[in-house]
Amino acid sequence: MLIRKKYQLPTMWKFNKKFDIKKLQEEALKLGNSYGNVMETNKALCSNNHELVMSVYKHFKQINLTEFDPSAESPTVESCEALGKTAGTGDESISKIAKYKLKSRRGESLDPALNEHNYNTPTEQYKGTYFEEVVNSFNADAIRVRLVRLDPGKTLTPHIDYDPTYAVRVIVPIFAEKEATNYFWRKSKEEAYHLEADGSAYFLNIGFTHTVVNSGNTPRVSLMFSLKDQSDLQEIPEGNWNETNNMGDLRITNDYKEHKAEADAQQLAV
Ligand SMILES: [Fe+2]
Repeated sequence: MLIRKKYQLPTMWKFNKKFDIKKLQEEALKLGNSYGNVMETNKALCSNNHELVMSVYKHFKQINLTEFDPSAESPTVESCEALGKTAGTGDESISKIAKYKLKSRRGESLDPALNEHNYNTPTEQYKGTYFEEVVNSFNADAIRVRLVRLDPGKTLTPHIDYDPTYAVRVIVPIFAEKEATNYFWRKSKEEAYHLEADGSAYFLNIGFTHTVVNSGNTPRVSLMFSLKDQSDLQEIPEGNWNETNNMGDLRITNDYKEHKAEADAQQLAV
């Protein structure tokens, strides 16, 4: 199988799949309002810098649909601290680079608790749902399946997660107003996308700096997960993807600052 790094893949890609948006919306509403923040819902997925994680994700709420593999070694506070030491805690830029490099090696040297590939055990509320059917329609096994919510007026701090050689991030928007925008920065150009909640599924190249701004009036809710390998990316032809993809017109913008200011203002107002 062709394995590609972030520059060999588009920033985003609309998969050749279509799901039933009504069913997705019904399932999402069934789960009610049991969302928590990333640190509450993923206690084991400790980071070498909790404050950094909280600053990035404090407005990003989720319901986990898969959890830490119980057969993997149990995570401990010590294991988190140990990783913090090897990754260079205290200096955000060093620890981020170290974490990125660790993950670029497909997680082989990661503590099991920090390896997202171990977050693959279905929760009770996930089993037998349409969400499971959607996720299982992909060729690769999924990890960290969750329902995520970004409230109106909220934004995430721009960040990098990991290279697509570590795992392949997929998003299926369920509720999204057109004022919800995904931003990426690639080769110092800002790209902006609205992801329509019409049953489409998208690959997100989260090796590039990215964020989401919800300037709408309702929460943006999505099914989000990662795939263990790149088998589902084989539908993407080889090529130079630095300035194109299959998302229609690639919008090169310079409007993130404006939207962020607007989102921040709304944040103060609520
Ligand atoms: Fe991210």
